[in-house]
Order: sequence, then C-alpha cells, then structure tokens
Amino acid sequence: MVADPSKILVTGGAGFIGSHVVDHLLRTYPGAALRILDNFTYAADRRYLDVAVGSGRATIIRGDICQPQVARSAANGVDLIVHLAAESHVDHSFNEPDRFSRTNVIGTQTLLEAMRQQKVPRFIHISTDEVYGDEAINPCDEAADFLPTNPYAASKAAAEMLIRGYRRSFDLDITILRPNNIIGTRQYPEKLIPRFIALSSLARPLTIHGSGHQTRSFLAVADFCRALTAIIDRGGENETYNISSDNEHSVLEIARLIKSHLPGHGIDLVYEQGRPVNDERYHINGTRLAALGWQPTLTLKDVLPEIIDWYLNHPDKLAIVGLPLRSPDEITKLPSPGALFVARPYLPVELRS
Ligand SMILES: NC(=O)c1ccc[n+]([C@@H]2O[C@H](COP(=O)([O-])OP(=O)(O)OC[C@H]3O[C@@H](n4cnc5c(N)ncnc54)[C@H](O)[C@@H]3O)[C@@H](O)[C@H]2O)c1
Repeated sequence: MVADPSKILVTGGAGFIGSHVVDHLLRTYPGAALRILDNFTYAADRRYLDVAVGSGRATIIRGDICQPQVARSAANGVDLIVHLAAESHVDHSFNEPDRFSRTNVIGTQTLLEAMRQQKVPRFIHISTDEVYGDEAINPCDEAADFLPTNPYAASKAAAEMLIRGYRRSFDLDITILRPNNIIGTRQYPEKLIPRFIALSSLARPLTIHGSGHQTRSFLAVADFCRALTAIIDRGGENETYNISSDNEHSVLEIARLIKSHLPGHGIDLVYEQGRPVNDERYHINGTRLAALGWQPTLTLKDVLPEIIDWYLNHPDKLAIVGLPLRSPDEITKLPSPGALFVARPYLPVELRS
C-alpha cells in the first residue's frame, strides 16, 4: 500500500477522465510527479494536459500500452499506476471488437506484466459498471456475476479476470474501480451528453437510439476523481469498489434537459433504430465505498451548465458532430416518445450516408 504516492503513471491521461484525473492528482498530492502514457487516439487531446505539463510535474510519453517495452519503461520507478487507457465507446465496439480486445485486454495484461517486472507496489484499474450487464433486479454489489452484453463491456470484464489471476499468482496489489457513467467537460462528442449538446447547438435534431427510455446513473467527473483519491488514501489492498450514483435519468430526460438549455430552432427529437444492444440500466451498490467516507456531491443538473458552456467555447469539438443529415428513410420523427422505430439494420456512424 502506498499512502502518499510520489511518482504516478497515469495511462490514458490525455482522454476525458484521464486528463481530469491528472489535474486532480497534481492538486491532491503536491509532492507527486506524474508520467502520462497515451498513444493519442481520436479521443485524446494534447491541450487537456497543458496545465499539467506547465506545472513542471507531469511528463507525457506518447506510446501504446500494448507494447511491452513502452509499458515497462513507463512503469520504471513509479509507486502507483492508475490505468484508464482504453477503447471506451460501446458503439464502436460493435464494428471493431478486436480493437477493443487488443487495447482493453492485451493492453491491461501488458501493464500488469510491467507492474510485475518493475515491482510497482500498487495498480488501480478503472473498469466499468457495464461488466454487470443489465439483468440484475437488485443493485449489484462487488461480488455480483459478470454478465456483459457488448464487446466493450466484455473486454473490460476480461481484463478484470486477468487482474484476478495476477493478484493471486504474483501477490500484487491491484484495486479495481467500477464507476457508473461519468460526465464532464472534455468528453469526446460521440458520447451521449456532448453529442446532444453539439446537435442542439447546431439546431439539429437529437437522434435517440430506440425509444430513449433506457436510464443511466451519472457521476460528475470531479466526484469520480475524489473517489479515486479516497481509495488511494484509505482503500483496502486488492479491493474492488463500485462507484455509484443515484442520479439516474432516462435518455429522453437528458435530451429534454439539454434542449431546455439550448432550445435550438423548434426541431424535435428524432428516433432511430436502436443499436444492437442497449442495456436498460446499470444499478450498482455503493456501500463499500461509502464506508470510506465518499459520497457523490454533484448531480447532472448541477454540472450541465458548465459542460454546455465548455463545449460552446470549443467549437472544434462541436464540429465533430456537425455531419450532414442522414437520409430520411433511415430516420423518422415520431409524434410521441415511447415507440420503437424499426428501419434498416444498424449501421456504424461512419458508414451511414
Ligand atoms: N466515460 C465513462 O462514462 C466511463 C465509465 C466507466 C468507466 N470508464 C472507463 O474509464 C476509462 C477512461 O474512459 P474515458 O471516457 O476517459 O475514455 P476516452 O476514450 O476519453 O480516453 C481514453 C484514452 O486512452 C487512450 N488510449 C487508447 N488506447 C490506448 C493505447 N493502446 N495506448 C495508450 N493509450 C491509449 C486514448 O488516446 C485516450 O486518451 C476507460 O478505461 C473506460 O473504460 C469510463
């Protein structure tokens, strides 16, 4: 156990959550130096690390977590690895599941090997609530079965299985975090909330997969970061923690909430055929983490104005969503929410006309 880490490797630190984690770790541990390992996929942005690099306490290694030499040299001399690097968008995992297995499974294993070889005392792995799937009636505690329903969630579950094997076989201290959906600035606009913000700001209809009744529980990225450092400071060895929020909204509620901030030009919601699988909800039990004294403090409604403001001030991010409208026979307007529109088979965004 490392109570006050002095040299931390953060993987995926140029992405959405990773870049907030980097800023938060620098603030929380004023004596710590950070190394950020990221291969800068489409989801990363170097600008998110300007403040960290400017502090003189963070260095960036541009490299792939799947490459053993890169992982080994990045892990050399650190006392904590915080592992966030991943392919993170469920929709892409239907089209390119092998890429998800490579990064999320092989990449995690490569880092575990680096931990072992470089004798890194602690590793914190960011998993997801999606490993539980959506079948549970009662909130899942950390011992619940894994029932992933899509290739992204399956790759995250597979990575956790490797971790279990490494914990026991090599006596390593590896903590697993399974957070609910995380929201905040800097999220790539393929994800629900920034996509809706971008579409609304461009006065475009908000496209909803299926009927929009599926719910998600939302954690502000600032609350996630506080949970992470509560676990670094007070968490148990080889422990697993759900990071849960009871701030639950349906997709439809989110769309309406965003439209209430950005009313657009009277354009309505647009429903399209759902993606192959769209879990109903993720319902997890946060009792274990609450025992460490952590509670979420922010709701979606609290953070939404700041998030909207950030995207409006980053038009390059909004432009990513500014694609031409799809043909009318692929999408339709429904008079009322709730009905499922069945049209052509699901096509990846890139392949749609
Ligand atoms: N966003 C959420 O709501 C959420 C919820 C639960 C768990 N998570 C998990 O949190 C982590 C971070 O998610 P995010 O939303 O910030 O993702 P993101 O897609 O915004 O960022 C991922 C980062 O990982 C980097 N990366 C990808 N492949 C890499 C590789 N092979 N080598 C090095 N770097 C690589 C990318 O360049 C990017 O900077 C992921 O592990 C994700 O599974 C996210």
